[in-house]
Amino acid sequence: MSADTNSRQVKRLADYQAPDFFIETTDLTFELAADKTLVTAVLQFRRANPNALELRLDGQQLLLLAVHYNERLLQPSEYQCDAQQLRLSVTDDDFKLTIKTEICPQANTALEGLYFANGSFCTQCEAEGFRRITYYLDRPDVLSVFSTTIIADANQYPYLLSNGNKVADRLLAGGQRLVRWQDPFPKPCYLFALVAGDFELRQDQYTTKSGRVVELAFYVEKGQGNKALFALEALKRSMRWDEERFGLEYDLDTYMVVAVDFFNMGAMENKGLNVFNSKYVLVSNNTATDTDFFNVESIIGHEYFHNWTGNRVTCRDWFQLSLKEGLTVFRDQEFSRDMGSATVNRIHAVQVIRTAQFAEDASPMAHPIQPQQVMEMNNFYTVTVYDKGAEVIRMLHTLLGEDGFQAGMRLYVQRHDGQAVTCEHFVQAMQDANHYDLSAFRRWYQQSGTPELRVQRSYDVHKQQLTLTLRQHTPATADQATKLPLVLPIRYQLVDGERSESGLFVMQLQEESLVFTDVSATALPVLLEDFSAPVRLLHDYSEQELLRIAKAASNGFARWDALQSCWMLWLQQYIQQGGAFHLPEALFELYATLLNQPLPDKSLTAELLKVPDYGTFAESFPQIPVDSILAASAAFRLQISEHLSKALLQCYQQHSQAAAEYNEEAVGQRALKNRCLDYLSMHHGDSQTLLEQQYHTASGMTDKLAVLKASLHSEHPVFESLMQHFANEWQQDVLVLDKWFSLHAANPTEQVFDTIAALCQHPKFSWQNPNRVRALFHAFAMQNPGQFHRLDGRGYQLLTQTLLLLDPINPQVAARLVTPLLSWHRYDSERQILIKQALRQLLEKDGISNDLYEKVSKALA
Ligand code: PHE
Ligand code: ZN
Repeated sequence: MSADTNSRQVKRLADYQAPDFFIETTDLTFELAADKTLVTAVLQFRRANPNALELRLDGQQLLLLAVHYNERLLQPSEYQCDAQQLRLSVTDDDFKLTIKTEICPQANTALEGLYFANGSFCTQCEAEGFRRITYYLDRPDVLSVFSTTIIADANQYPYLLSNGNKVADRLLAGGQRLVRWQDPFPKPCYLFALVAGDFELRQDQYTTKSGRVVELAFYVEKGQGNKALFALEALKRSMRWDEERFGLEYDLDTYMVVAVDFFNMGAMENKGLNVFNSKYVLVSNNTATDTDFFNVESIIGHEYFHNWTGNRVTCRDWFQLSLKEGLTVFRDQEFSRDMGSATVNRIHAVQVIRTAQFAEDASPMAHPIQPQQVMEMNNFYTVTVYDKGAEVIRMLHTLLGEDGFQAGMRLYVQRHDGQAVTCEHFVQAMQDANHYDLSAFRRWYQQSGTPELRVQRSYDVHKQQLTLTLRQHTPATADQATKLPLVLPIRYQLVDGERSESGLFVMQLQEESLVFTDVSATALPVLLEDFSAPVRLLHDYSEQELLRIAKAASNGFARWDALQSCWMLWLQQYIQQGGAFHLPEALFELYATLLNQPLPDKSLTAELLKVPDYGTFAESFPQIPVDSILAASAAFRLQISEHLSKALLQCYQQHSQAAAEYNEEAVGQRALKNRCLDYLSMHHGDSQTLLEQQYHTASGMTDKLAVLKASLHSEHPVFESLMQHFANEWQQDVLVLDKWFSLHAANPTEQVFDTIAALCQHPKFSWQNPNRVRALFHAFAMQNPGQFHRLDGRGYQLLTQTLLLLDPINPQVAARLVTPLLSWHRYDSERQILIKQALRQLLEKDGISNDLYEKVSKALA
């Protein structure tokens, strides 16, 4: 078998085998230099399977210098070494291997393993990056106690960091320094981390509920220290919250967070040494929006919560990724909910499911939250594993209640602390702690796809009885033809005049009925409150009924959700009536009321006043009518801005004095004001002064960016000059400049192609930096549907050429950007031809990465 076919191999969950060997201790020494780093790994092995005679270690892009078996140097004839593995025969039950390898961190543009960027060394080992550092059993069910010695130039790299506690620090001859770390907790190698560089350090302390003092240390780029203070406070809030809500306390004496500008993902939960994308640490009122602040708090929480759900209890294999990610997303969502507007947080989480996750279910990459087969693990850090995974945990929480869920959590941690386990272990703990049969519920882990829940109403006048017939059906997905009924916790509320009755109905079968007695003919059931199950609800509610819910429901989520359904009706009518359609008076009345008397939750008010975005509209169609959606959205915005111009301006003015800080009230005021501004900006003449004034007097980035977005959205001529001003002001701050790149890439006119070409030459743009690449091209592909889906194919070609260039540099980032091309079948036949042609260009490219290959080949299959 050639190396190529070997590396294109698909791995299956069904083939899982426990490891033949364990590694009890791992002692690493790094002699760091950007062009040539020497790694010495001293590994103490113990045989687990008495029948195993061969040891196979994973390794990639390593130069093997020497292997010692116990104290004896092995001859090359005593082992086999290829591009993927180091293999040797072993007969002892206990033995030591000393492996010396050489790697080149500065050539590592994939940012997996040990890399050198922006003057510092940094590692990223999840999922399978550790094998790029040394030969190892690179799998999460091999837990080892790590010690790490780092030797580097003392002046260039004043901070030499790794997991656990620092146990030695001394200067060596020749200007070198040696630091040694020990992590007392056994861990899989994906949680290993090393960072070396020069940083600004911000410190604080946290006292746990049992009275232990934890040193908190944030390492950020020099000059940026103040921008880490919000994250530092957020970390303390996370620590407190996890103690109070989950009874979980931090376990090491120090907690370190390093912020780096070159990072493939959001952040990484390495034991005691989190590495963050700087975008999720560094915020200030001047440079970051309210959304940025929100994301920092939630991701700081997320990585912290992993210490128990991920690190202390980890995954047996990567098919179990949702064990730690679904659960930890659930935990961070609950944390965010307790910190800010609960309703709006829920709305945003639901939008992710209904757009990105439902789209993934309908795509060639469809998979259950526990994938059954994987070629490139990096492709499975998905909205399905993360966000649908969190919805599955949330359903357990709904079924068991907070107390039952917490009892299950305690049992889970008590049983499995220090182990590498499966999703099944988690469900079993929930089941045992509650004596609640979850056998049918388990299907959520293995079954992919978006369940459809159809509801039919019938009212019996004589009996005064309302019967709901509920039918569930999950359409086949690319990965799985047959589907079974699922357990659906359905929260409902019956609105009947003054009376309102709420409850939880647990649906188990394909078809069931729900009967309400002694209700009037106009009683309205609101189903799936708070999106209690991740399904597509299909109902026949009329516009009048939906508007009744939107006006009157006590639950804010239900109001928003009813309006979403209205928007889908109106979009269909717009398409049918060929543009002659006018939004109903009743909507303007509702909006006028919201503008004149906003709800106490102003962020929610702003959400209610929003026309759904392109992605939300698109997801309701099996085949997406791109042009109609764009035309309809523009028409809807214009109608609202015309009918309500006075109320919009008044509401805008009433909420223009928000405090600069990030707090719930101020965030809500800004959201509401800027929603008004977005509509007002459609009247180019009247709004010019308003836009310029807000831009120049803004107290923070939220208000500034809102002006740029509104003027972009409305194609207001002031956009160009303000963008110029913005560029001059923020030339030196790459994170702010990323916002500017993204705005340019979302420009809805054909000019965007020249602009993007010019921006690729910008001194701050770099193909090596994922944040920069995403700022331009993710924004283009996801936030510029008009230009991306052009009928001359120019948009698809821009993305394709970008991917061909990017794939050899950073396959992980390339494979994420390809997503919108995979769903070619969702478009009309003209576009289908163009997209498939683009996909073929990718597939025909020599040496395309596994990351891209897996997705593109599935899409073309
Ligand atoms: N485990 C990280 C998280 O969700 C995500 C991640 C995966 C980061 C792979 C880097 C590489 O918190
Ligand atoms: Zn995570």
